[in-house]
Amino acid sequence: MSKPSDYSLTDQAVQECPYDFYAAMRREAPVYQMPETGFYIVSRYGDLQAVLKDTKTFSNAAQPAQQRQLQREKSAVQVMYEEEGWVPTPSLQRTDPPLHSRYRQPIDKTFTASRVRDMTPYIDGIVTDLIDDLVVLGQDGQQVDFVQHFAIPLPCRVIADQFGVPRADVPKLKLWSDALMDSFGMMMDAKREREIATQILEAQKYFAAAFEERYDKPRNDMLSDLIRTPEGAKPLTMNELLDMMMQLLTGGNDTTTGSLAEGLLLMIRNPDQVQLLRDQPGRMKNFVEEVLRVESPVQGLLRVTTRDVELGGTLIPADSVVIVRYASANRDEAKFDDAEKLDVCRKNAGAHLAFGAGIHFCPGAMLARQELNSAFTQILDRLDDIQLAVPDASLSHHPSMLHRRLVSLPITFIAK
Ligand code: HEM
Repeated sequence: MSKPSDYSLTDQAVQECPYDFYAAMRREAPVYQMPETGFYIVSRYGDLQAVLKDTKTFSNAAQPAQQRQLQREKSAVQVMYEEEGWVPTPSLQRTDPPLHSRYRQPIDKTFTASRVRDMTPYIDGIVTDLIDDLVVLGQDGQQVDFVQHFAIPLPCRVIADQFGVPRADVPKLKLWSDALMDSFGMMMDAKREREIATQILEAQKYFAAAFEERYDKPRNDMLSDLIRTPEGAKPLTMNELLDMMMQLLTGGNDTTTGSLAEGLLLMIRNPDQVQLLRDQPGRMKNFVEEVLRVESPVQGLLRVTTRDVELGGTLIPADSVVIVRYASANRDEAKFDDAEKLDVCRKNAGAHLAFGAGIHFCPGAMLARQELNSAFTQILDRLDDIQLAVPDASLSHHPSMLHRRLVSLPITFIAK
């Protein structure tokens, strides 16, 4: 039986299929210190819940000593922000209470269940357009890349519309979002880091100009909502606004792209489950939850300990980096029976932690769920005999210690 030390999360082969590693951690060392980085990985469902709720001990805002030192030395990238753009002020996901609510409050009501219900015909319309295009591209059994032609454009169009920026700018948004995702993935070299900073500077200038327009003339869009200051509150500065935009941009598209592609792949790999969905379309909601649980696009995120703390039998010293491994918790047998298996009939499918828990729970969860639901429902209605056009083993994911996104998903199908 394998041990956690047989694997390394910095190894791309392990990132490609991390689930044996997660099972080994849950079994042998539920709070596992990575020898390569010193980070502690939390792998069990119960421990993850405890970490996510204890924001005093497990901080989103604190920085470990090593990073504080790096900042004092000022990286080339930081100098670029200072001289040419805005040094991002940590906001939202990068803050703790009570400051966190300053950033959360302006977006908390944006994607509530009832607002997203009202958006459903609009989301369905984008899905219909994209499937129309897929049908043309895939006629006569032509191979189509589902990632490029569906999983990327759906959330990109939705988030561009919500921000209130032109759809013609979607390719730029995607480029910037990819740059940000690479920077979060912790797998880049110094050259890529500078390239990314240049792209993020472009994004800053673009959104700063868009905010300036809305200060003059507010519109009915998210950018205008963000600059509307509640009574008694201090207006958000441009450095804060831009940091929030970067989080909304990546949150708003790459994660959903990841789930759309993994969901279709799960359909291809599980024809028995697809048959159940065709026979009982009411199970689609559960399928969406199972996709999020089994192939969580955010595999893990970071916290920093503010004090010595014992968790899962391990003493974690103050100032340590902790990785909350949502994707491992979501396959914890102690919470989910037969956890490695996709099961559209699972009773507690919605109990997964793919959107986090506690104060940082994903504000876009309802929107993402609806995009997935609309997409998979129409795919089943309109496409038959969906097949992988390449060997399963040739599929790969973008290198990242934290996120899971398929590079491409070539398929063939028959349009109904
Ligand atoms: C399948 C799609 C998605 C997944 C799996 C996902 C996952 C997550 C997770 C795990 C967190 C918690 C972070 C933490 O614990 O520190 C989070 C937070 C966040 N997500 Fe999502 N997300 C998705 C879609 C979206 C969408 C569509 C948006 C925007 C419209 C979005 C915007 C955000 C933001 C801004 C935060 C930070 C919230 C805070 O710290 O208060 N996400 N998301």
